[in-house]
Amino acid sequence: MKSYGKHLNSHERTREMNMNSRTVYFNGQFVSEQEARVSIFDSALMFGDMVFDMTRTYKQKPFRLREHLERIYAGLKYLEIDCGMTLEEMENVTLETLDRNLPCLEGADVQIMHDISRGPLPPYKSVFKGKLQPTISINCWPLWWHLAVDAPLYRTGIHSIITAQQSVPAYLIDPKVKNRSRVFYQMANFQAHKVDPQSFPLLTDDRGIITEGSGSNFFILRHGRVLTPKGHNILLGVSRNTALELLTKMSVPWIEEDFGAYEVVNAEEAFHTATTYAIMPCTRVNGKPIGDGKPGPLTQRLIKAWSELVGVDIVAQSDEYAKIVKDMT
Ligand SMILES: Cc1ncc(COP(=O)(O)O)c(C=O)c1O
Repeated sequence: MKSYGKHLNSHERTREMNMNSRTVYFNGQFVSEQEARVSIFDSALMFGDMVFDMTRTYKQKPFRLREHLERIYAGLKYLEIDCGMTLEEMENVTLETLDRNLPCLEGADVQIMHDISRGPLPPYKSVFKGKLQPTISINCWPLWWHLAVDAPLYRTGIHSIITAQQSVPAYLIDPKVKNRSRVFYQMANFQAHKVDPQSFPLLTDDRGIITEGSGSNFFILRHGRVLTPKGHNILLGVSRNTALELLTKMSVPWIEEDFGAYEVVNAEEAFHTATTYAIMPCTRVNGKPIGDGKPGPLTQRLIKAWSELVGVDIVAQSDEYAKIVKDMT
């Protein structure tokens, strides 16, 4: 039995206990986060040979889970990984994983992470009594920490750095497959953070055309139209789809088009989209202000429309989570 130090009040104690009781779906069983372990012989560790996805909840209900699952299954088919479950079975077990975790989440929204690898590699099968199977895990992680970091950015906007590290072209590793061969995204993170530790990287293709962030899709507003990179060398974000649908609803013209640093620098507004924070203003690129260097009116309208769509004020929620994290640390 763990003994708690005197400095924890009862609320903090509850939170600490809850943190230790989350449940992970792992290869057909429900286990604790501590027990969910991937083998050192797994193809994921050897090759980054796997598909993953991240869905989030709003009001503890998964947002566009089907779209995320369809992206997973498209990636699995492309990589020829048979996970042994139908999409419907995966959906059911995902909802069960969330349900099992709800009692210890204190009302928090979560990221639901699916990780599916080909499993341990054949030369090592004796370690697994000759039985090889894909490695499948689903976990629910409270969004407190991610959104606490993002909270101030809704007001200041992101500083984006166009990195020397470029995107890997789709004919080498197709980014439409949400895979873990992601070292180039990590290099882009490091390069951007050397310039400004709070910045987000913005990658380009081999022609200098903007592709995406290391964990986000990117948009600019220029001459009254929203431009977003074409779909071939990027992950087709679920949030990107949502943003485009909201723009259509708002009768704002948008187009998938090639553009480079010049267009970003001279844009009226810019923003990133990703599952965790939904939509985030981008107010500087490579040290230069975009527009007047403040989150623009269209981006603000989109944040409001998004909040209405999901029934959660996304800025207020991240502020609340920032406070929770501050109290916890
Ligand atoms: C490289 C990349 N691009 C775009 C996105 C945004 O995708 P989504 O909106 O589905 O989260 C992600 C999300 O993790 C990503 O890793």
